[in-house]
Amino acid sequence: MPLSMKNDHDISGFGQRLALHAASVEQLMVSLLDERPRLGEVIRPPRLMAAIRHGALNGGKRLRPFLVTETARLYDADPQAALRIAAALECIHCYSLVHDDLPAMDDDDMRRGQPTVHKAYDEAAAILAGDGLLTYAFDIIADDATELPVKTRLDLVLALSRASGVGGMVGGQALDLMAETASPDEADIITLQAMKTGALIRFACEAGAIIGNANTEERERLAEFGSAIGLAFQLADDLLDVTADAATMGKATGKDAAAGKATLVSLHGIDWTKKQLAGLVAQAEDLLTPFGEKAQVLKEAAHFIALRQN
Ligand code: IPE
Ligand code: IPE
Ligand code: MG
Ligand code: MG
Ligand code: MG
Repeated sequence: MPLSMKNDHDISGFGQRLALHAASVEQLMVSLLDERPRLGEVIRPPRLMAAIRHGALNGGKRLRPFLVTETARLYDADPQAALRIAAALECIHCYSLVHDDLPAMDDDDMRRGQPTVHKAYDEAAAILAGDGLLTYAFDIIADDATELPVKTRLDLVLALSRASGVGGMVGGQALDLMAETASPDEADIITLQAMKTGALIRFACEAGAIIGNANTEERERLAEFGSAIGLAFQLADDLLDVTADAATMGKATGKDAAAGKATLVSLHGIDWTKKQLAGLVAQAEDLLTPFGEKAQVLKEAAHFIALRQN
């Protein structure tokens, strides 16, 4: 039976939980992205900050922050510290979207139901807003206000740098653009998706283990969980690009086919993709077995990712 027809997982309850968490991370982001200069800064230019807020505070599911919070909860880690790491990761994610939408990349006019940053402002503002969000993420982690041991903060900086950089999200975006002209095979597509989308989601899950000072085996297990749901997340995105409408998604759909972009959906079709999604969710759930009941919400997150409608 296709995954979308399964009714044993009601994702509406999870959706409410996600929305509640989104409100708390947004509240923190609002205060982090205000116009008061911090120690060592001169001023925060108001128009740049407005463009940044447009790109970072206008909606979004806030799934990555949720995963940071929930994996940290497995270790009863300080929720406020975890929320700051969650906000830092969301800054990176929002930067990646602002740049992804630029004319030189996907050339999109709508994001989260609003004009994209370069449409609402201009291209230079969108480039700089992305740069600002990227840099600020590491500021938030390094800041003493993130009350975690220095070594923990350093481990987070390193893991997030690797996840976002040339061997992670940025590298994946480069490969993704090449997929419009080259003809990648299944393995190539899985690699690029693991990088462009999987790496940040993997980091989200690994972050909780780092914050919670988990042992190496558990850290790796949670990172692997993140990789499985990260792949599922991009598969669902590519599926929704074919099956959903722009009003529901808050962004244009049908873009991948229009750009001639090879995806696993274009390669194998919708039914195959749904089966693949179900397999990834099962794999993700298995990885959580040692955490028992405590990981129930993370299991629901895996189902939500595969069944989400936007
Ligand atoms: C969109 O991510 C970009 C991809 C990696 C597919 P999300 O679907 O998480 O976007 P928001 O944050 O909810 O807008
Ligand atoms: C974007 O992938 C991934 C990143 C921003 C890293 P897509 O280009 O498929 O994302 P959407 O569909 O524009 O959200
Ligand atoms: Mg893209
Ligand atoms: Mg895009
Ligand atoms: Mg997409």
